[in-house]
Formats: sequence, C-alpha cells, structure tokens
Amino acid sequence: MPTRLKIAVQKSGRLYDDSLKLLKDCGIDLKNGINKLKTESDNFPMEVFFLRDDDIPQYVEDAVADIGIVGENVILEKNKKVSISEKLGFGKCRLSVAIGRNESYTDCRYLQGKKIATTYPVLVDRFLKEKNIRAEIHEISGSVEIAPGIGLADAIVDLVSSGSTLFMNGLREVETILHSEAVLIRHPSLGNVQQQILEKLLFRIRSVRKARHTKYILLNAPNEKLNEIIALLPGMKSPTVLPLAEPGWSSVHSVVNENDFWEIIEKLKGAGAQGILVVPIEKMIL
Ligand code: PRP
Ligand code: ZN
Repeated sequence: MPTRLKIAVQKSGRLYDDSLKLLKDCGIDLKNGINKLKTESDNFPMEVFFLRDDDIPQYVEDAVADIGIVGENVILEKNKKVSISEKLGFGKCRLSVAIGRNESYTDCRYLQGKKIATTYPVLVDRFLKEKNIRAEIHEISGSVEIAPGIGLADAIVDLVSSGSTLFMNGLREVETILHSEAVLIRHPSLGNVQQQILEKLLFRIRSVRKARHTKYILLNAPNEKLNEIIALLPGMKSPTVLPLAEPGWSSVHSVVNENDFWEIIEKLKGAGAQGILVVPIEKMIL
C-alpha cells in the first residue's frame, strides 16, 4: 500500500464540519463507511482519524498521526512537541471567564479566593498568575458550563464561540483570556513522502483559503469612463478589458477582496459601471 499522510480531525464538535469541508474544497474525497474512527481518500494519499480534539496534539507528537486540525487553544494548553503549519481561519472562538448572569462584576479581582471550573488548567493558572490572583482551579473534563449551577464552582473558564452555551446555562462572559482559531499542526520531523504530501495539501489549502476571501467581478463600462473605473479595481494584475458588441462599451473583469467589495461597487456605479456581476471563486492559484 502506498504511503499516506495521516491526519487527525475532531470527531464531533465545533471543528468537525469545517475540517471536513476544507478537505472537500481541497478536492480530497473521503470514503464514508460505517467506521467513524478512520477513513481514507481514493484520490489523495491521505488517511483521516477522527479523535477527541484534546487528544490530537498527543497523537501528533507520538506520530500516530502526521498532522492534525485543532484549535490553537488546545495547542497552548497541552504544550506538546508539534509545530503549527498554517492557521486555517475557521473555528474562531475565545477562552473566557464566565460567572452567573446576576452576579455583579467589576474586574478580575472578583475571582480572588473563588473556585473556577475548567478544562484548561494550564491557561487558567497562567492567567491568574499574571493578574496576581489566588483562586482554586477545579479541572473537569467536560460540561464545564453546568458547574456553577450545581454548586461545583463560582466561575468557569471555557471556550465561547456563539455564546449560546453560556446563555443557556445562565452565565455571562466577563473576561477574555485568549482568542483562538483552527490550525494545522504537524509532527516536527516527517518522512520524505509525508512531507511531500503535506506540501501538496498546504498548496491546496492556501489556494482554497485565498479564493474564499476573493470575488470575481464583471461589469460593463462606457469607454470614456474606463480609466476611472479601472483605477477603482485593485485586481491581481491589471483588469481584463474586452470590447462589447455595442460600440463605445467594454466589459471589465477583475478580482476584488470580499471585505472591500461593497464599497468598491458603490464607487463603480457612481463612475458609470453597469451590469455588475460578482461571482465566487473556487480556487485561486498565485
Ligand atoms: C466548546 C465549549 C462549549 C462550546 C461553546 O466545546 O466547551 O461547549 O464549544 O460554543 P458556543 O459559544 O457556540 O455555544 P468544544 O467544541 O471545544 O467541544 P468539547 O468541549 O467537546 O471539546
Ligand atoms: Zn474540546
């Protein structure tokens, strides 16, 4: 059997869907079988392991998996010998302190002498030391959000993404310890073949990510306004300009950043552009 790159992804939870979507967008088809522990691809030399996110750094350190997709928060907490290859731009969240919704709170001195439940004892300990606060850290492995309600702790430190978990448990966020997003981690020394497959994967990931933030824009412009309109379009190089069948008009094609396009479109219309189309780009190779 040819060598495959072994990747560990979260088996369920916040990162699962986006991790699999990223692989799919990279053109990697996975066999779906009944086996929820691992699968492989028919069209890319990759094997996928589905694991608890908190365990992934250890598996990558031990080379059970060559690479993995996890939150930075897990990497910072676990302090394993793995390297971060690439930030992935999804799974954005923060590690925050939360307390009962009706508790009054002015600053982090509130935590002095309190009991804090968390799955992130290392990061909480570092935070408390920085703030010069002595508090009791109670490490639990899951369902941290119920701890205050059952009298197990006065406060919690947990990941917050939409905030709905806190809300549903009568808690409110009072302090942010760090921001996190999904990252691709790798074993520090991979075999040659694995290294080559990883480079192929990274090339695809970068192309997909670049494309996600960029749109292809097409518009019609009167020729006498072309210079003004072209000046508004940043593009990769200069925009493509093609004559329209109607005399005196041209079609202009370019690439714009998603973040700027509403503003650019207003200006383009103001400059006389018509029939503006904005379409998604699937991959972008630079
Ligand atoms: C985190 C955290 C909360 C939830 C918060 O879990 O422990 O349960 O996400 O998200 P929300 O603000 O959108 O409600 P994670 O995905 O890390 O799963 P795990 O706790 O099972 O590892
Ligand atoms: Zn987790």
